[in-house]
Amino acid sequence: VSNYFGQEYLAAIEGILTPERTAQEVAFILEQTRLAPPALVGDFGCGHGRHAIEFARRGFVVVGVDVNDEYLRLARAAAAQGLSVDFVKSDYANPPAGQFDLIVSLFGSFGFSDDASNARALGVWCGRIPPGGWLVLELWNRDMIAADFQPRRVWRPSEQLEVEERRRFDAVSNRLGIHYIYTYEDGRRAEYDIEVRLYGAAEIQ
Ligand SMILES: C[S@@+](CC[C@H](N)C(=O)[O-])C[C@H]1O[C@@H](n2cnc3c(N)ncnc32)[C@H](O)[C@@H]1O
Repeated sequence: VSNYFGQEYLAAIEGILTPERTAQEVAFILEQTRLAPPALVGDFGCGHGRHAIEFARRGFVVVGVDVNDEYLRLARAAAAQGLSVDFVKSDYANPPAGQFDLIVSLFGSFGFSDDASNARALGVWCGRIPPGGWLVLELWNRDMIAADFQPRRVWRPSEQLEVEERRRFDAVSNRLGIHYIYTYEDGRRAEYDIEVRLYGAAEIQ
């Protein structure tokens, strides 16, 4: 997993990941799936636990899985006592044992491996969902990104920070590479690379 997902990434996007947005996302998933508590939910690539905690607040029994110690620490600290949510450090390709009525992987947490490993992980996840259960993936939209390809994007998460993205996309391998340059007001810079496999709707189907 790229070292991009750290404190700096979280600080940059925290402003857009409001509690209201998270609650809306969870409500949408529950509307679509019509699952009711205390169904079992796995949040794979849970990050700092915003969805896992929201599902648990609504009475679901939740396991959040991530590889990032820092995010897991924040997630455990944010989970109120009495909520049924466990945060487990693991590659989500090998999730903790057990079945889930719903597995979610949200906000572009899937697709950082090679094709065979990504497919294998999906196979493992589907094997953990009994008939009638659900898999909800929120992915980068391949077709939208390819149709309006922007090799360079600049955005400002806050007054103090500018993020420049230098992007390349290979339409045959469907891999998007992004070189991120974070520049702070005081001149400090940090650079990161990620590569993610983009999937079109037909392929996902
Ligand atoms: C874009 S963040 C999204 C986090 C969270 N789902 C959210 O919506 O806030 C992607 C997360 O996926 C995690 N991740 C990526 N590859 C992973 C893997 N193979 N196993 C477990 N976690 C992974 C990263 O550590 C990061 O926390």
